[in-house]
Amino acid sequence: MARIISIFQALSLALLAAGSSVKLTIPSENGNATSGMLYGLMYEDINFSGDGGLYAELIRNRALQGPEPDLTAWRTHGSGVTLNVDTTEPLSDALPNVLRVDISPTATGKVGFSNEGYWGMSVDTNQYKASFYIKGDYKGDVELSLRSDIDGTVFSTKSVAVRANDEWKKYTTRFTPSAAAPNANNTFTILFDAEKVRGKSLYFNLISLFPKTWSNSGTNGLRVDLAEAIDEIGGKFLRFPGGNNLEGQSPPYWWKWNETLGDLINRPAYPGPWGYVNTLGLGLIEYMRWADLMDLEPILGVYAGLYLDGTVVPEEDLAPYVQSALDELEFLTGPVDTKWGAVRASLGYPKPWKIQYVEIGNEDNLWGGLPSYQEYRFDMFNEAIKAKYPDITIIASTPEITGTPAGTWVDYHRYDKPDHLTTYFDQFDNWDRQHPVLVGEVAVIAPNEPNKPEVEWTPGALRLAYPSMIGTVAESIFLMGSTAYAPGFQNLNSYQWVPDLISYTADPADTTLSISYYLQKLFAQNVGETTVPVETTEPFRPLFWSATYSKKHREYYVKLANYNGTSTDITVEIPALKGGKATFTSLSAPNGHSYNSPRNVTSKWTVTDIPKAGKGWTVKLDNLMIGVLKIQK
Ligand SMILES: *[C@@H]1O[C@H](CO)[C@@H](O)[C@H](O)[C@H]1NC(C)=O
Ligand SMILES: *[C@@H]1O[C@H](CO)[C@@H](O)[C@H](O)[C@H]1NC(C)=O
Ligand SMILES: *[C@@H]1O[C@H](CO)[C@@H](O)[C@H](O)[C@H]1NC(C)=O
Ligand SMILES: *[C@@H]1O[C@H](CO)[C@@H](O)[C@H](O)[C@H]1NC(C)=O
Ligand SMILES: *[C@@H]1O[C@H](CO)[C@@H](O)[C@H](O)[C@H]1NC(C)=O
Ligand SMILES: *[C@@H]1O[C@H](CO)[C@@H](O)[C@H](O)[C@H]1NC(C)=O
Repeated sequence: MARIISIFQALSLALLAAGSSVKLTIPSENGNATSGMLYGLMYEDINFSGDGGLYAELIRNRALQGPEPDLTAWRTHGSGVTLNVDTTEPLSDALPNVLRVDISPTATGKVGFSNEGYWGMSVDTNQYKASFYIKGDYKGDVELSLRSDIDGTVFSTKSVAVRANDEWKKYTTRFTPSAAAPNANNTFTILFDAEKVRGKSLYFNLISLFPKTWSNSGTNGLRVDLAEAIDEIGGKFLRFPGGNNLEGQSPPYWWKWNETLGDLINRPAYPGPWGYVNTLGLGLIEYMRWADLMDLEPILGVYAGLYLDGTVVPEEDLAPYVQSALDELEFLTGPVDTKWGAVRASLGYPKPWKIQYVEIGNEDNLWGGLPSYQEYRFDMFNEAIKAKYPDITIIASTPEITGTPAGTWVDYHRYDKPDHLTTYFDQFDNWDRQHPVLVGEVAVIAPNEPNKPEVEWTPGALRLAYPSMIGTVAESIFLMGSTAYAPGFQNLNSYQWVPDLISYTADPADTTLSISYYLQKLFAQNVGETTVPVETTEPFRPLFWSATYSKKHREYYVKLANYNGTSTDITVEIPALKGGKATFTSLSAPNGHSYNSPRNVTSKWTVTDIPKAGKGWTVKLDNLMIGVLKIQK
């Protein structure tokens, strides 16, 4: 009996699957305007996404920065040397701690020290730029090398003739390794002649090594493969510098924009809230250049008086922070004859930038921040910025605030499980239109079943290690729903803790574009200027869809997702269209639990030409598949 039932079930399922089809009709190319800002990125330095990530610097702990400086990533090379953190010979006000190398009276040969990078460093055959500051009694060669930490193979050496004395001196050099290293297990080593400094100490600081950087991002620029991956998404905006990293853990640390400028020697440490000290090498100007080079609209987050430990700046003390935000805007946008515009020009950027969006704070509903945000913090910033910059769109950092002036946007964040996220498909339908929404952060971070980890779990936390296929389908549904209403603009994901949009190590071969990354790219590259109606007799679920039209490109984009349904033929008809050339780009993976991890990409990105058959175009959408049917007029 049981057997018969199961055969019957199998048969009926098969029939259902075979017969599954849905017709979608797009009656018109007219619709509501879609935001011109779909989609974008939220960025903050977290999990070494800046230092040790996108910021191309290879030397970790290059200036022993931070309130508790240590020798992380440094070690001696050769015998007769010891390394110390020294605070008596500051390099600058911003960089008070330096590396002191003591050389024993009996040391011989070439000795020195090495840096391990951010868990290794990749060596390729492009040009590197190295620099360091030195102080002490030494006249002779200093030898810089990139070498294997496994067998000592030297991939590159460069000698610098140094004449050091009791003043700090900077040396800069360039070199090109003759061979690439097979892996990232390499160090950068600095050696000198022991006999010339026996029994003495040499001081070093701000030891820096940059590989070739992305595009024209320059000598303080971005890591090639990661920047390329971000650029290829084709997003429209960049929200920075956070995120919690803007706010800081506790007084007096918040992301002070004015301390991220100019020569690296003037950039102090910022003990960010994510467990490591930010070098601030990726500073305000570097962010603006990043936005420029990738043609992204900057959304500037300004610090609004809330620390993550719950400390709130009282009303009577808030004015200087408001002034700091005004100064920041003047720095970025002011003519060169303004105080801060002149500072910008002096740093080599006479041309003002344009800032159209400013977000006041970050998640000010958390850590007990809402009452003060509601009562005075938001208003003080908003009024001061609006008074001076009436055309700037102000974004409140939480939809929980009430009574903000019409035209104020709100930043909406959601971290969720797949099933639950899909229930937000139509949540923006009834959104208050006076307060457009920026979906600043959205991601599936945990699996549906708490006891059945879909992928790997972060120890002790309900977190996916990598975005899963089912999670990505849920994200696509959320995003389609919000496109239909056209909230301000949105990003699907951000650099978070885990899971991450892009994962990487020091070795570019490990760089992993997650399934979520591909969704972001798929959607960002297929978005029209109007959201067009879609007629059908089918209800949403398990299939979801939305459609936009681009007058500029004369293209329709029909976004589709299948969340726990059967394989379904979807036919799209556009009666007004006589001809029409269509392609279907789909994103899929072996199953809902699948994910991409280093050197193990399981997702598939497939592009197929779809001929017109009868009145429309038919595509097959399998379970847990996301697709975009692009139809050219
Ligand atoms: C190289 O690998 C060894 C062995 O796994 C490890 O101890 C060492 O820290 C690695 N070095 C770098 C620079 O990654
Ligand atoms: C990323 O940072 C968070 C917050 O500090 C930490 O809990 C998590 O373990 C980190 N994850 C990785 C993969 O380093
Ligand atoms: C940067 O600005 C903050 C806030 O105005 C101020 O407290 C700090 O001293 C400034 N830093 C420098 C180096 O001027
Ligand atoms: C356009 O907006 C109106 C009013 O907000 C809404 O009722 C309608 O469904 C929207 N049209 C589309 C195609 O989304
Ligand atoms: C979809 O399937 C997954 C995995 O089989 C399950 O965890 C989830 O609850 C299902 N959700 C819905 C809405 O059917
Ligand atoms: C590749 O990833 C899948 C999950 O998508 C996992 O099941 C599989 O074990 C991984 N393969 C290897 C060789 O790590």
